[in-house]
Amino acid sequence: MIITTISELRNYLKAQRAKNKTVGLVPTMGFLHEGHLSLIRCANAENDVVVVSDFVNPTQFGPNEDYETYPRDIERDAKLAVAAGGDVVFYPSVTEMYPEGSATFVEVEGNITRVLCGASRPTHFKGVTTVVNMLFNIVKPDKAYFGQKDAQQAAVLMKMVRDTHQNIELVVCPIVREEDGLAMSSRNTYLNDEERKQATILNQALAEGEKAFLAGETAVEKLVSIIADKIKEMPLAEIDYVDIYDFPSLTEIKKIERQALAAVAVKFGKTRLIDNRILREE
Ligand code: PAF
Repeated sequence: MIITTISELRNYLKAQRAKNKTVGLVPTMGFLHEGHLSLIRCANAENDVVVVSDFVNPTQFGPNEDYETYPRDIERDAKLAVAAGGDVVFYPSVTEMYPEGSATFVEVEGNITRVLCGASRPTHFKGVTTVVNMLFNIVKPDKAYFGQKDAQQAAVLMKMVRDTHQNIELVVCPIVREEDGLAMSSRNTYLNDEERKQATILNQALAEGEKAFLAGETAVEKLVSIIADKIKEMPLAEIDYVDIYDFPSLTEIKKIERQALAAVAVKFGKTRLIDNRILREE
């Protein structure tokens, strides 16, 4: 079932809650792939009712980014979401979410939103926290599901939930990869054949970093250069960042002592891809 208005969704959820049903939310920007479907399946296993939001959120795109061209296909999404265990696909218009005069944003301040993707996308996380906060207010889920692929986003949202005392459990699900290791992303569709082939280096480079860490290397500088050197083997790879931070605080570290996030953002042609590994002792 597709619902496009906040009031209709609220009425539906009110009726569900009256029957003591628990509610899981899977926020997405649509063009669903296996990664999203794994979140929906997980939400379905842990909740009575699953709401999948499908909204390309304009406020999280920078002025020269791909908001206009971001792939969209609601009919296909609705079929996939329902087959994976979604009960409702919430597909609001931009004016439903941001009515005229809308001027309120939710922002997590500090390094957590300034490092990694925050450095090259300075307004991105403010858009994400604003829209996710809206979705939390509309749906009031018991649990909400996010992919580890966007690990910084997950860390920022965990902080938002904690700082604003929201009674919602965030569940972070593992990265889903193509057979050759490329992390699934709606943006993979932008890659041409050669870029697609070379993009597999991201997972390979992170695997090398992880292998060195598990063999005893804990110096961040060394691990970063192992990962970056591997990525540079591909001529089309243009590195935005390769870095390692404590996870989930995203504070700077010189040595990995607890658990850390090794994260990369690399452009292949016009397409910027991200990938990561959580490094922790096994
Ligand atoms: O991860 C995404 O697809 C988006 O950032 C999210 C969480 C749906 C907010 O628009």
